[in-house]
Amino acid sequence: TAGKVPAIEGDILVYAEGSQSGQPIKTSDLSDKITRAWPQGKDKDGKPVIKKDEPNNLLIVFKFPTAEIVAPTDLKGVQDGVVAYSGICQHLGCQVGDNPSKPETILCPCHSGAYDPRAGCKVIGGPPPKPLPQLPIKLDAGGVMATGSLSGPYFGLTESDWKSLLE
Ligand code: FES
Repeated sequence: TAGKVPAIEGDILVYAEGSQSGQPIKTSDLSDKITRAWPQGKDKDGKPVIKKDEPNNLLIVFKFPTAEIVAPTDLKGVQDGVVAYSGICQHLGCQVGDNPSKPETILCPCHSGAYDPRAGCKVIGGPPPKPLPQLPIKLDAGGVMATGSLSGPYFGLTESDWKSLLE
């Protein structure tokens, strides 16, 4: 169903939690801490659909000073320091979170997987085998819009399952 399709080009990112849950993210609210988001696309009748029927569609969004964002981040998918990734750990699929004791990193609470969100969410500690896939975005009408799909599958999908999901 439309609510399970991964983020694709043209989807709008909406808050996944908090008092504005389901509303479009405002770039002015973003920070160097995690903002959780769902992609919102359209069903076959053109009606907006928040794609939260697949929990692995959860995204995390940040805004950093532009100069802090470095390789291997795909800079074509970043605008004005806003960068988005899958919010699901590549080890065994838990939700990643902020790391209060090391704020420049993000941490998976399940087995202490650590990622660097300024550097393409590469793995910097713990068991995750792969970086968090990046979602290319652009800023649009004060919000955030996907310009493509995640750079790779979220946890639990093979590359070929992933490609068939996006067809
Ligand atoms: Fe994230 Fe194991 S599920 S480190």
